[in-house]
Order: sequence, then structure tokens, then C-alpha cells
Amino acid sequence: METWLPFVNTALIAVSGLSALIGFIAVRSQRISLHHNAMLTAAVFAALFLVVYVLRYFLLGTKLYTGEGWVRIVYFTVLISHTILAIALGPLVLITLSRALRREFRRHRAIARITLPVWFYVVVTGWIIYVMLYGL
Ligand code: HEM
Repeated sequence: METWLPFVNTALIAVSGLSALIGFIAVRSQRISLHHNAMLTAAVFAALFLVVYVLRYFLLGTKLYTGEGWVRIVYFTVLISHTILAIALGPLVLITLSRALRREFRRHRAIARITLPVWFYVVVTGWIIYVMLYGL
């Protein structure tokens, strides 16, 4: 469980990020219904990620990083920025979704332009942390 649970967790973020990317390409090419479906899928996988993350935290605790020197500074810079933005992402996604579902598309678009880059940052740094902590 020590090895596959973190992998499942990081895979869930990857699917969420991939769906968000598809959703972004879709909205740029005016395919709103694909955008709608891809973004809801992305949000569901992000929620699943959160459930597995909490489960993992209580079952396995956290793994300490053992790297020394400059990689340690890189690791903690990435980890801290990832954690702060991951916490901010929850409310951002909820507000972005609720504006879309209430058909307030102008306001939806305004906040979505913040939500999406934050989402991608959290996904990419999630993988960087996973690779730095567990190796490939
Ligand atoms: C958290 C989930 C979502 C995210 C992150 C998101 C992201 C985005 C982004 C970044 C844009 C602006 C694209 C641009 O710059 O041109 C946009 C526009 C749009 N989104 Fe979403 N979206 C989400 C969910 C939804 C849902 C569920 C719908 C439902 C139909 C939707 C409908 C639209 C529409 C209609 C636009 C075009 C608005 C306009 O151009 O005035 N979105 N979305």
C-alpha cells in the first residue's frame, strides 16, 4: 500500500489535469458541451484525489524528504507553493463551477482564467513532488 497508494493519488491528479486541458482546448474551439463535460470530469477526479489524499494521510502519514543541499531547497519551495495553491484551488473550482452552472458565463470566464493556471500548476508540481519523493 505504501507504494501504490501515492501512485494512485498522483495518477488521479494527472487525469484531472488532462481533463482540464481537454476542457480548455474545447472552450477555445467553441465546443462548449465538450468543455462542460471535460471540466466536470476534471472536478470529479480532483475530488477523488482529495479523498484518497486524506485517506493516505491517515493510513500512511507523510514521507519525509531526505535529499540534501540545493535539491532540498527546490523540494520545499515546490512543496510549499503546491500546498498553498492546492488549498486555494478548492474554493476557486467551486466558484468557477457554480458561475458556469448558473449561466453567469462572463463572470465564470473571469475567474476561470485564474482557476485554470492554478490547476495546472498544482498538477505539474504534484508530479514533481511525487518523482522527487518516490523516484521513477
Ligand atoms: C471548474 C471547472 C471549469 C473551468 C476551470 C473552466 C474554465 C474556463 C476557461 C478558462 C474559460 C475561458 C476560455 C477563454 O479564455 O476564452 C471558460 C469559458 C467558458 N466556460 Fe468554462 N470552465 C469550467 C466549467 C464550465 C462548465 C461546467 C460550463 C457549463 C456549460 C462552462 C461553460 C463555459 C462557457 C460557456 C465559456 C465561454 C464564456 C465566454 O466566452 O463568455 N465551463 N471556462
